[in-house]
Amino acid sequence: MGQGRAVACRCEELIPDDMAHELAGYLERLRWILWGYKTGGIRDWEYSPPKSEEEAPAPMAAQTVERLLQISSELTGCTRCRLHSGRTNLVFGEGSAESSLVFVGEGPGFDEDRQGRPFVGRAGKLLDKMILAIGFDREEVYICNVVKCRPPENRTPHPDETATCSPFLFRQIEAISPRVICALGVSAAQTLLGNSRPISQLRGKVQFWRGIPLICTYHPAYLLRSPSQKAAAWQDLKEVIKLLRT
Ligand code: URA
Repeated sequence: MGQGRAVACRCEELIPDDMAHELAGYLERLRWILWGYKTGGIRDWEYSPPKSEEEAPAPMAAQTVERLLQISSELTGCTRCRLHSGRTNLVFGEGSAESSLVFVGEGPGFDEDRQGRPFVGRAGKLLDKMILAIGFDREEVYICNVVKCRPPENRTPHPDETATCSPFLFRQIEAISPRVICALGVSAAQTLLGNSRPISQLRGKVQFWRGIPLICTYHPAYLLRSPSQKAAAWQDLKEVIKLLRT
């Protein structure tokens, strides 16, 4: 972790302006790919290990890593929908490929677009806290979005954009095959469930996506605007814990 960040930061010091952000995004993605190879059993390069064995995520299944890399490579340079025209970086997703828990958000915002990583802005900081609250480190879960490119002004993705991008999300989830999925916000919940019901009707009970238990909860950005809903979100997270324990 620390090593990758250090490399990215040094690049930002050396290379001015937007190029540094773009390069930092590529390096971040490369770091995750190399981490995937490392934990998938490919060991023929120099690698800085985590500070302690406890910090290391469980080894990923090489096959899952390969599948994710395949999906990611199909998205390289994607121009399938209009969202490509405004992106700095495509945000594929990150985390442990063998995670028992996958979080699905709506789509990258400003910070995510800049860095090429999901949930790294203000909402991401809250998501990090939510993940910690249920006993995981961010690196131990998998985090991705319905659409991989930032919608202009962070608008909700249009139905045709969601329809174009969601097959890649579905393949990501199928590759990881988690025990539980947590949909963050109405876009993710509706996309996974294939309906257009309000989040108030979708949360509060266990749903299923292709046989995998799915908990729908409020989006962290909404929780930042409406902190009084945090208690309800915590109930949803407790359900996630319960499902993971069964
Ligand atoms: N909101 C999302 O839905 N996804 C992100 O990655 C960041 C903010």
